[in-house]
Amino acid sequence: MVETKNGPTVDKLFTKRTVLISGGLGDIGRATALEFARLGAAIAIGDMNPASQAEALLNELGQLGVATHYTQVDVREADAVQNWVLAVENSLGVADIIIANAAIVTARRIHEITPEQWSNEIRVNLDGAFFMTQSATARLLAHGLPGRVVFVGSWAAHAVHPHIPAYSVAKAGLRMLCQCMALELAPHQILVNEIAPGYVNAGLSAKLWEKEPARAEEARQRVPIRKLISAEAVARQVVYLCHPDNEHMTGSTLLMDGGLSL
Ligand SMILES: NC(=O)c1ccc[n+]([C@@H]2O[C@H](COP(=O)([O-])OP(=O)(O)OC[C@H]3O[C@@H](n4cnc5c(N)ncnc54)[C@H](O)[C@@H]3O)[C@@H](O)[C@H]2O)c1
Repeated sequence: MVETKNGPTVDKLFTKRTVLISGGLGDIGRATALEFARLGAAIAIGDMNPASQAEALLNELGQLGVATHYTQVDVREADAVQNWVLAVENSLGVADIIIANAAIVTARRIHEITPEQWSNEIRVNLDGAFFMTQSATARLLAHGLPGRVVFVGSWAAHAVHPHIPAYSVAKAGLRMLCQCMALELAPHQILVNEIAPGYVNAGLSAKLWEKEPARAEEARQRVPIRKLISAEAVARQVVYLCHPDNEHMTGSTLLMDGGLSL
């Protein structure tokens, strides 16, 4: 336990750890960065957006007393991702908690989506997650370090959803990638898991619902427990997957969808 300036004490469980988060300027990425920072980890964020858009978040993280690093990076570009990983290592040390979070969603049915939209969605959501985790875990192997990988998946890989076929297929691929990587990296004490949230009242879903607010309420009614998820609730479960006590779980999916996929 450590005393903070603001009075209450918090467990600094992740001091000396470095967290690498793609899509860290989005709602879930941002909440995850803040959650790890409160627990003492250094935070490296990569996102498509220019550094000017990261200033507010970096300040907030800095106020929590942790070191930070921001890179404008497109996860579709394997070389750029590799350079990002190396830049973080030079600045904060080897990233040993790797959160593949960046994604996009295109609400187009099978006969509406264009070949370009289909390919782009697979490139961001699946290829991007692969490039990031491949590069970052290669550095763990090079240094002989243990680590954690969390893929941010989705309930949409677990149940058919009519409007988002490219997204669902990419997330289903992510699930198998998680298992393949978990098996290969297990002997190196690198644990690889996936989190699969249901309807989150933030980020990608909130952007879709913004145009038609009634759809958020319809979505809530479809969830068996009648609740939408907050970005902070997702972040806490990501942290849970990386908790030092969670030492046997690998290749698993933590499905947190309030029963939606049932
Ligand atoms: N919001 C939901 O309902 C929901 C539900 C289940 C899973 N998820 C997953 O949570 C994760 C975060 O999504 P969110 O809801 O916070 O959305 P978001 O749009 O708020 O965040 C996504 C971030 O990814 C970044 N990004 C997009 N393309 C990129 C690229 N090519 N390179 C680098 N960065 C890129 C965006 O700039 C953005 O900051 C995603 O993997 C998403 O699939 C979200």
